[in-house]
This record gives sequence, structure tokens and C-alpha cells, in this order.
Amino acid sequence: MKFALATLLSTAIAVNGTNTCVTDFDAAENVDYYPTKVDFDYASSLSITYHGNYKKLGFTDWSGTYTTCVVKCGTTLPSSATGCDTTVTPETNKMAISAASQIPYIHSLGMIDSISLAMIGTSSIQNSCVLDAVTDGTLSAVDADGNGYDWSSTMDTGHVDDVIEFTLTPGYGNADAVKNSVPFVEWSDPSLLGRTEWILYLGALTDQEFFAQNVYDEQKSRIDCVTNNVETLREAAVVDGTDVTVLWATRSDYIDTYSDPPVSHEGWDVATCTVNADAYGGYGPYYCEAANLLGVQLLNTTAGSVVAGSSVYMTDDEFESYGADADVWIYNAAFDTADLTTRFPFIETFKSYTTENIWDPQKRGMNDFFETFVNQADTFIEDMASIAVDGQFLDGDNTAHVRVFYRNIFTEPTGSFGICPGATLALLSDQCSPINEVFTLGSPGAVASLKIAAAAVAFFGGAFLAF
Ligand SMILES: *[C@@H]1O[C@H](CO)[C@@H](O)[C@H](O)[C@H]1NC(C)=O
Repeated sequence: MKFALATLLSTAIAVNGTNTCVTDFDAAENVDYYPTKVDFDYASSLSITYHGNYKKLGFTDWSGTYTTCVVKCGTTLPSSATGCDTTVTPETNKMAISAASQIPYIHSLGMIDSISLAMIGTSSIQNSCVLDAVTDGTLSAVDADGNGYDWSSTMDTGHVDDVIEFTLTPGYGNADAVKNSVPFVEWSDPSLLGRTEWILYLGALTDQEFFAQNVYDEQKSRIDCVTNNVETLREAAVVDGTDVTVLWATRSDYIDTYSDPPVSHEGWDVATCTVNADAYGGYGPYYCEAANLLGVQLLNTTAGSVVAGSSVYMTDDEFESYGADADVWIYNAAFDTADLTTRFPFIETFKSYTTENIWDPQKRGMNDFFETFVNQADTFIEDMASIAVDGQFLDGDNTAHVRVFYRNIFTEPTGSFGICPGATLALLSDQCSPINEVFTLGSPGAVASLKIAAAAVAFFGGAFLAF
């Protein structure tokens, strides 16, 4: 089935994410030009409706709903279509972008070549394909005066307006001077699959629904596969892991000097899990969502006596008694061992420290984590499963899982995005096959057949992802 999909995909998708325009448009015929329609189950900020030759994409935040009307090229927007804040007619899909975290979505759809202007300082971009294109001069990262960008730059696309069709904007700042602003604010959806669904929004904006839907479906199926495999492993008592406790906590040294008097946020920031109907599995934020899906015990609490506005932190004493016995500690920022153990020597008595079970997301570098992980929910879950449950069998083969974002702070160095992996960013997670379908746990012969089955899946998966 995967093979059939690969063949279909490679014929159905135009090169470079461009679209063929309709040449014989007759509004009276009411033709449906969108055979693949996307929808949003977890991204509660997004909505879409299809109307034959155009669609309305909605993004809703505290300020209201922003509507982008997307018209099939070669056709015209009917006068009955109202409420469009921006109207785009995607043909070349040439665009300007405004945030590094928009890049992996574009790269996943094989559309790096469609980016004409990046209004982002190049030192804030990790994706080496984009940086290569800047070096080659095929992608501009400078304004009309030839200056690079920083956080305070104004968004202005005047110098590329004759090339681009739209601009992905970050949902804040003044977008009056950009051509066809389309908000791209994936972080506003806090759940893992909500953020993943933003690829469907980009797919709808660029008339690439079929491709986007396939990438999304593959990610969701890998999440389901890994979570099911974890359950199977537990049922077969190959691994238990239900008694493994995971501490999710970072140190905050922030003092809010904008407030008068200044407000101290100094303390330990520990996970708080809450019921969230938009999350896959019903709990948020994303790390609680992943832990809940995997049946991992994530220590979470609302306790802490450092109260700073709506934020709560633990004191050193509180944190020491809360975290000392956790088996695993995930520190979701750069873990600076020398600094932290000097300032907080009690850390060295933690079980996670003495057993060398502390992890941070610097395997590809801290900045790459923030740039890339938002659209790689399946990889995040796989990494968490391999840290807290089992690193060997979870993706259905018997080779050790190689974690992508998280590294053991005692034994592994920090890394970077690495060289450009090609025009299309393939999923960073492993192909996953359901364990119960391919072998019986505990029988040595079966492991070999498992490996073969997994290799076959990986081959077909490779055909799908590599085109
Ligand atoms: C959060 O803590 C509660 C209470 O200890 C626990 O029942 C729940 O499973 C935890 N959440 C996760 C995602 O581990």
C-alpha cells in the first residue's frame, strides 16, 4: 500500500510546488478544483471551507479571525465571496517568510526554492538548505537597502513584491508593508498534533493539499505505531517502565525588570499538566501530551512558593525534595553542568545525576530544536519513548533507536542541523511497524523476521519520503 502511494505521489505532484492554472474556467459550471480537502482536528486556531474554485483559510487568535481566500489560478473569486482579509492565487508559490520555525514546514513540502525573501537574521536560521540558498544568491535575506534583519527590523517586502505571491507573517508586529500577509503562527497551537497540522494549512495555502495530507498522515501513523508498540512491549513484559518517573524541569534566572518593582522569576520551573480537549490524548502541554500517550509517569505539579504573576516556581529546597528521586530528568533547555552543579550542588545527589540519566534537547543544537521540532511531533514522541520506556524495540525493529533531538548530557556532545539533506525534509523519526504484526516477543527466531519486515517497510517508506 505504501508503494502504491509513492507512485501516486510522484506523478501527482508538480515539481517545485508550483501549480498548473485552469485554462477553461467557466464559473457557471461549478467545478470542484480541490479533489483533496484538508481539515483540522487538533489545531483549534485553524479553519477551512472549500467553495469550488476557492477556499477560505481562517486563523483565529485573541484579536479575532483572519481570513485568507485562496483562489485557483486561472479562475476568479466570485463576487459572492466576502470576508477575505487577504486574497492569494498560488501559482509559483514564491513567498517571503518572517520566522525560522516556518522553515521546516516549507522544507517538508519540498518548497525551499519557493522562498524568495527571509526577513530573519541569518544567524537565527539553522536550516542549512536555506543558508546555502542565501550564499548562492537564490534566496534573499536582506532588505531594500541591502541590510540584514534582526528582531527589531520592520517587515517590508516592497523590493520583492513583483516576485512573491504572499508573505508568511508571525502574528505580531506590523504587517502593513508586506505583500498578502498570511499569518503563520504554529506555536499558537500548544498541542503536538495541533502544531503538526499547520502543514495542512500551508498545503491548503499553496494548493499542495495531497502532499501535505500524506506527510501529516505518516506522522500521525508513526505516533500511533510507537505508542501502540510501547503498550505491546509492556503487555508482553519485555519492558515495564510504568514505574519510571520522569522529572521535567528547568532553572529560571529571569528577573522581570519591565515591572516596577521588578518581579523575580528565579526558581525551578517544573511541569504542570492540565486537561486540554485539543490535545491528542486529552492532556497538555505537549510534553504532558507525549507522556500521557506513552503511559510515562511525568512528575507534574502546581506547587511552588515563588509566585511571579501567573507563573509558579519552586525554591531550591522545594525542588530538591521534589526531584531527587526521579529516575530520569529531562531538562528542556541547555544543561550547563558546570554552572548548575556549582550553583546548586544538591543536583549531584539526584538519582538522575548519579545514574547519568539527564537529557537535554541539544543533540542538534538548542536553536535547531526550537526551529525544527515544532513540525516533528512523531520524532519528539519517539525520543521521549526511547528515554523513558525502551530504546530497542519501540519502532518495530531490533536496532537501537537513534534519538534525534535529545542527548544524554553526560555522554553525548551537542550538534547542529548538519548539511542540507536535500530539497525535501524527510521525517526525522524512524519508520515504525507494529510489533504484534511481525513477530512474537521472546522468540529469538522471530527477531530476524521482524528485522526483515521492518527493512521492507523502511524501503517502501524511503520511496515515499525520498521523492
Ligand atoms: C501528572 O501527575 C498526576 C498526579 O501525580 C498523574 O496522575 C498524571 O499521570 C501526571 N501526568 C502525566 C502526563 O504523567
